[in-house]
Amino acid sequence: MSVYLKDKVAFITGAAHGQGRATALALAAEGVHIAAFDIAKPLSYPGYTMGSTDDLESLQEACQKAGVQCITFRGDVRLDADVAGAVAKTEEKFKRIDILFNNAGICAYGLADELTEEAWDAMLDINLKGAWLVARRVIPIMKTQASGAIINNSSIAGLRGMNRLSHYAASKWGLVGLTKSWAIELAPYNIRVNSIHPTGVDTPMNDGLAFLEGSTPQEIAERSAGNLLDVPWITTDDVARAVLYLVSESGRYITGSQLVLDAGLLTR
Ligand SMILES: NC(=O)c1ccc[n+]([C@@H]2O[C@H](COP(=O)([O-])OP(=O)(O)OC[C@H]3O[C@@H](n4cnc5c(N)ncnc54)[C@H](O)[C@@H]3O)[C@@H](O)[C@H]2O)c1
Repeated sequence: MSVYLKDKVAFITGAAHGQGRATALALAAEGVHIAAFDIAKPLSYPGYTMGSTDDLESLQEACQKAGVQCITFRGDVRLDADVAGAVAKTEEKFKRIDILFNNAGICAYGLADELTEEAWDAMLDINLKGAWLVARRVIPIMKTQASGAIINNSSIAGLRGMNRLSHYAASKWGLVGLTKSWAIELAPYNIRVNSIHPTGVDTPMNDGLAFLEGSTPQEIAERSAGNLLDVPWITTDDVARAVLYLVSESGRYITGSQLVLDAGLLTR
């Protein structure tokens, strides 16, 4: 357990399953208290399985077993009332927020001339606007502390074009703009802001895309991939370790950066 991270507090969106959950558990193992925020209910778009209240409960138990406190919130990153309430309760309980992992996100395929406005809005509102809605509530707390680390979970789709994923890619490129701009605004307050860019990750999202496309998770991974290294996808632990690095003392002078976890994909 690291002395640097012990008793710090992390607010994590999309924490119920997938990358958010794995990161919550990895931080908990380092002594970080967790505020886990998730919609924890089905969404008509994209229509695959979201996290659940059971997931949030079992995450809370696992964190407590690891010796840290965990509070959970059911809420939508698109709704300021949900976000503001959860951030206020987190501050009330822990008196601080040291780490924000803007991780909640959705994905679904669609050609630009076939997408509905509903699909576009859901994609941009959850993946991009949601990150801002959460950050704008957390940033004042970090400013008061004069410390903090924000990680935005973008994607390789935030650094390249993606066939039938233009709305997803737009949201993920947008996160790079937020990351770099917030890094400038917040450096004077000793708050660092970085984005991560995973290639396909083995999570319920990939299972969900396979379900929507009538294919297998492996086919979904291979479709967007072309990883140089011989793996169809990376794991949630790979992502959790990258976040840990960025928020730990080792990352103390890293800000405004894009940490690529792509098994070499963007090299070609
Ligand atoms: N899986 C991949 O291949 C991959 C690759 C690169 C980046 N990403 C990004 O990583 C992040 C996490 O993805 P994942 O693979 O763990 O996906 P996932 O679908 O397995 O998990 C996403 C979590 O976010 C929650 N969520 C969705 N909409 C929400 C909302 N409006 N408000 C609150 N919570 C909401 C879900 O309930 C779920 O628990 C996403 O932003 C995704 O775009 C995923």
